Amino acid sequence: MIELSHVSKRFGEANAVDDISLQIPKGKFCALVGTSGCGKSTTLRMINRLIDHSEGTITLDGQPIEEYDPVKLRRRIGYVIQHTGLFPHWSVARNIGLVPRLLKWATSDVQARVEELMHVLGLPVGEFAHKYPHQLSGGQAQRVGVARALAADPDILLMDEPFGALDPITREKLQEELARLQAKLHKTVVFVTHDMDEALKLADHLVVMRDGKIVQQGSPLALLQHPADTFVESMLGGLERGLKQAALTRVKDHMTPMGPMLPAQSRIPAHYSLRQALSMMLRDHSDRLAVVDQHDMPIGELSLRRIIKEAQVEKGSARD
Ligand SMILES: Nc1ncnc2c1ncn2[C@@H]1O[C@H](COP(=O)(O)OP(=O)(O)OP(=O)(O)O)[C@@H](O)[C@H]1O
Ligand SMILES: [Mg+2]
Repeated sequence: MIELSHVSKRFGEANAVDDISLQIPKGKFCALVGTSGCGKSTTLRMINRLIDHSEGTITLDGQPIEEYDPVKLRRRIGYVIQHTGLFPHWSVARNIGLVPRLLKWATSDVQARVEELMHVLGLPVGEFAHKYPHQLSGGQAQRVGVARALAADPDILLMDEPFGALDPITREKLQEELARLQAKLHKTVVFVTHDMDEALKLADHLVVMRDGKIVQQGSPLALLQHPADTFVESMLGGLERGLKQAALTRVKDHMTPMGPMLPAQSRIPAHYSLRQALSMMLRDHSDRLAVVDQHDMPIGELSLRRIIKEAQVEKGSARD
């Protein structure tokens, strides 16, 4: 687990990070959000000792990070930076295989791992392995950066806006891939993003920063239900907050058994979110949806009234 206790970082007079305390248990996904310049990247770089903190303590598995050898520490921690940071004179394959080579893996193992990751990240080996970073689009370069960070199977991943330059489809694919990897391999992830929907979707723990300080932290749902102030509220999307909360709630948790009426025309898979259900209702001018399982068989229904009622119940219980 990663723990920061009263950590500050000064650059000259200015406090880039100001007295932050944060615990990230093993296997959890922590997202840092906040306005530009609020200290998110600095926070990541202090964790892998690319920069030293000025005050406070940072521990990894209970041991202060100063006690780790910085080089060994960094090999244990996958790091994806904001602007990819690929070596320009190295091919894609060589870039991805960097850490496994440093760790002296057998050449055939490195190659197999590189090809596996290129496949996962949608970079066909034949087309991309021998290209150089300047021959890639921004999104392709970002994917190479993510592959490189994952290559040696680190238990900690620090990701600084890793999906910033990707189109929505690739972005969503990689978000799902990351969530899947994390659920399966229990990586501890600290993830910086400007995309609140991405943060809400992926994070177990959401941290909102402003001017080097943590304004609020907690589960995404807790922050959506009780934003500490107007800044957090606006970060969470202001009036869109209701929809963002609906995006975190599954249809299957709110559907009711099929009523005596004819099944609704529009069908929604049970694992979709209430936000997607609302969108479908608006699109189809319908206040009732049939809920279907993975074989497209109806298993229940969802009405607009039900969604609104659930929101009221949640609001009521949140106040208690
Ligand atoms: N090496 C440095 N020397 C001096 N000041 C720095 C240095 N690195 C960062 N800063 C300053 O520290 C503050 C925090 O920077 P940081 O890069 O952590 O912000 P950020 O939250 O990642 O912003 P962005 O969302 O724009 O990436 C900024 O005011 C920045 O100008
Ligand atoms: Mg940054």
